[in-house]
Amino acid sequence: MSLRIGETAPNFEIETTQGTIHFHEWIGDSWCFFFSHPADFTPVCTTEMGRTAQLAQEFAAKNTKPLGLSTDSVEEHNKWILDVNETQKTTLEFPIIADVNHKIAQKYEMIHPGESNTAAVRSVFIIDPNKKIRLMMTYPMSVGRNFDEILRVIQALQTTDKYGVATPADWKQGDKVIIPPSVTNEEASKKFPQGFDEIKPYLRYTTI
Ligand code: BEZ
Repeated sequence: MSLRIGETAPNFEIETTQGTIHFHEWIGDSWCFFFSHPADFTPVCTTEMGRTAQLAQEFAAKNTKPLGLSTDSVEEHNKWILDVNETQKTTLEFPIIADVNHKIAQKYEMIHPGESNTAAVRSVFIIDPNKKIRLMMTYPMSVGRNFDEILRVIQALQTTDKYGVATPADWKQGDKVIIPPSVTNEEASKKFPQGFDEIKPYLRYTTI
């Protein structure tokens, strides 16, 4: 059955480069950036793993734990991490799942037979502390992901949760946010005493 936004992320127990993890327990009160990649010792994946490692502080500032996955073994992952650290000038410290039996990749529909029967495509799942899937993105093997967008969307999700707002196209932290149509003007005046701009009855901006 297909996974959907708003559903509980399937739980699992699996070997990683940092020992066995029990997924939900490991997430704890954090958010999770769970991402798959096709294979170790490949060029695009090397840059993505390096970028995730370089952004460790930014993920931590958003209370978000990165978790990688590929269908290679822990031994291969550990050898490859040395290459990632060397070539991307970083120190990779987050766990990478060794999904050698494709158990998790199948649960999360990360293997798309049109691309490969064994390698995972570039899937992204953003999972919240309630273990709900909040965002899914799928990239092909040939295209590396945009990590600015990954950080931006985590920030947007956390902002919409905290303030009960929505975010416009290309929103980034500090920009105006949108008051959802379900909130009346009367309610909006109470909820956002700083005021709001009504461009149309359904398009209202405020600052937070
Ligand atoms: C890569 O990560 O570079 C890659 C992996 C599989 C197919 C193409 C590129």
